Amino acid sequence: MELTIADHPLIAHKVTSLRDTETTSHQFRQLVEELVILLTFEATKSLPTEPVSVETPLTSATGVRLAGPAPLIVPILRAGLGMLSGITKLLPDAEVGFLGIKRNEETLEPETYANRLPEDLSGRQIILIDPMLATGGTLNDSLDYAFERGATEAICICLLGAPEGVDAVRKHTESTWPQNKVDVHLAALDEKLNEIGYIVPGLGDAGDRLYGSSGS
Ligand code: URA
Repeated sequence: MELTIADHPLIAHKVTSLRDTETTSHQFRQLVEELVILLTFEATKSLPTEPVSVETPLTSATGVRLAGPAPLIVPILRAGLGMLSGITKLLPDAEVGFLGIKRNEETLEPETYANRLPEDLSGRQIILIDPMLATGGTLNDSLDYAFERGATEAICICLLGAPEGVDAVRKHTESTWPQNKVDVHLAALDEKLNEIGYIVPGLGDAGDRLYGSSGS
């Protein structure tokens, strides 16, 4: 597993606003969208391309376009949905699958309530989006679903991560899927998880901050 932590003043500025309790849901959604665009730019730098020639008004030119098949973006519901509009601005031709995974608040273990991934993911580039990499359980289950369907490469874009979660994903993927490629991109790596599995200093419950506190 390869971990990339963003190092850019724009990202650091927006992450600070995201943490701030004074930030409204409207501003929070806007910041998430902007951060996802900034993170996607770096996270997709190894997407395969193929040569193409086009006619300019003056002459012909050779260039590239993204090679098929189209990447599959997978928001992990519910908070991952808040990242979808940003990433599809940069990858408008990507397909979208959905995973609904919620945390059992007592055991902190992930529970899957929806899986809408295509059956065959061989040869597909998978991009998992979830704002919070906390215990790592949700991301590990999501990677398992993708790799069990034949994918061998996954890019994970998260906003905040805890060291415990990063370690859990590293251990799980290196022991269970040693031949597969997993790139994790974070806007910031925080200090720790607290006793109820929240990232500290964090930003609170990402779903609540995006959508208000009803629902789970
Ligand atoms: N999920 C959240 O929304 N926030 C955290 O801090 C951890 C998990």
